[in-house]
Amino acid sequence: MPLIINGHPFGFAGDPRTSLLDFLRRDCDLTGTKKGCDHGQCGACTVLINGQRINACLTLAIMHEGDSITTIEGLGSPTDMHPLQAAFVRHDGYQCGYCTPGQICSAQGMLEEAALGWPSFVTDDLAGDVTLTADEIRERMSGNLCRCGAYSNIVDAITEVKE
Ligand code: FES
Repeated sequence: MPLIINGHPFGFAGDPRTSLLDFLRRDCDLTGTKKGCDHGQCGACTVLINGQRINACLTLAIMHEGDSITTIEGLGSPTDMHPLQAAFVRHDGYQCGYCTPGQICSAQGMLEEAALGWPSFVTDDLAGDVTLTADEIRERMSGNLCRCGAYSNIVDAITEVKE
């Protein structure tokens, strides 16, 4: 059964130890997803699997046959940007840009989690009663590192889109 990546089927027939990250970059030529640490520490490789964000370096491609995977290429394009991409541009939510695809995929996953009513990470608010304050966004995005330090602009960009 193929993996469904950005709406297109991709058959997997390689080494079963291949990470989803390596499969995307090497076999699918989807190099928007970045490899930073390759150990689940930086978030540069974040993609969405069935709408939930995951570090593609920490999971095997073969485990996701039949799953729907969205990479940054599936969210938008230079001529048809996703609202988060446009907001990152407006707010300078990047400097070198290496972490940006992961940041944007993670932000999209975070917005979906919030819409599903996940409880607060920083207050006692229960499911369905969470406001995405700057603190809440920072905590929920804490798995995505930006070595340039564009964090405040990233939070501004996400704040604009969630409103
Ligand atoms: Fe996957 Fe850093 S490359 S978390």
